[in-house]
Amino acid sequence: MLTLTINGQAKQVDAADDTPLLWVIREHLQMTGTKFGCGAGLCGACTVHLDGTAVRSCQTSAKEAVGKKVVTIEGLGGGKPHPLQVAWVAEQVPQCGYCQSGQIMQAASLLAKNPDPTKQEIVAHMDGNLCRCMTYGRIQKAIIRAAADIRARSGS
Ligand code: FES
Ligand code: FES
Repeated sequence: MLTLTINGQAKQVDAADDTPLLWVIREHLQMTGTKFGCGAGLCGACTVHLDGTAVRSCQTSAKEAVGKKVVTIEGLGGGKPHPLQVAWVAEQVPQCGYCQSGQIMQAASLLAKNPDPTKQEIVAHMDGNLCRCMTYGRIQKAIIRAAADIRARSGS
């Protein structure tokens, strides 16, 4: 048995130490917002936060997550929509939607550290998150919109 803290809640999971965190989230806990894309660390669809850092959950073992705070798309806003989720709706970002929770989690890790990123910083940070529907332009617009929202809320 492993005990993981996911979205602020302690979860007991009957999984081997080397089970990918993605399987624990999706299969053991039935939280399906986090997506399985490549399974090889190449697409970003499975991105979650581990102690605030964006990681590929398909390449992270369940054991590695023990003692750390895991946040998934379901818990990102802490019970209300995160500014990125609001911006995603306003900019009508998704097409098929499959990559989008990973995109949002990747973007959230940027804005948590840098609430006023340049376009170049956004492109560099989002570089490893692939979208087969080519929504990249709208993703960038939504990140810029959310950053402005976050700065306005903090009064900076
Ligand atoms: S499913 Fe994890 S990076 Fe593609
Ligand atoms: S919206 Fe379809 S893969 Fe990104």
